[in-house]
Amino acid sequence: MNILSPSILAADFSRLGEQIKEVERAGASYLHIDVMDGFFVPDISFGMPVILSIRNCSDILFDVHLMIDRPERYIKEFSDCGADLINFHLEATEDVEGTIQKIRFLGRKAGITISPQTPVSAVEPYLKLVDMVLVMTVKPGFGGQKLIPECLDKVREIRSIIEARGLHTDIEVDGGIRLDNVELALEAGANVVVSGTAVFQNKIYENVKKFKEKMGSV
Ligand code: DX5
Ligand code: ZN
Repeated sequence: MNILSPSILAADFSRLGEQIKEVERAGASYLHIDVMDGFFVPDISFGMPVILSIRNCSDILFDVHLMIDRPERYIKEFSDCGADLINFHLEATEDVEGTIQKIRFLGRKAGITISPQTPVSAVEPYLKLVDMVLVMTVKPGFGGQKLIPECLDKVREIRSIIEARGLHTDIEVDGGIRLDNVELALEAGANVVVSGTAVFQNKIYENVKKFKEKMGSV
């Protein structure tokens, strides 16, 4: 089943609760939550207090994308404020296995993320240890960028490794995904798709429905 994970980075933060309800009403089952620390990526977004507040008004699966340095320092905090799935960057830690174990120990799903410059070979040893691989299709740090088509080749490569090994690891793509290119991402082998701008710009409900049609489901 293909899943849409709308990214709230593109939401109107003055109406965040309302807009999350709207994506839920339209049938989205995941919510992508981008945490940026101003160090691993240049921008700063938001942290635990915001996640905790929206947790109180939503049951949707929280797909938290940590763009922070040494994420192992904060796994418990993100779990405590309601993250269901915790994605951290391979490039941000020297302790990949330990970070996966921390997430798993807390009963959360673990995801490992690779930036555009990181090759598939770097993530390959961990494929059997995680629930998801998140392949960035733009440079992490900002919404509204254009998809880098070469990143979809990595999705293809990871999909074929996962199949050859009989694994059930999800492949998520994130960055520059819109209605006119979502099919390319699915064809490459992604089964979870993040979209920020293309969901939260203009009519949110209609946008989610249109993604749902193109993707076969949300
Ligand atoms: C970028 C973030 C993305 C971003 C996607 O660093 O990880 O999740 O919000 O936004 P769009 O869909 O606008 O590229
Ligand atoms: Zn993201």
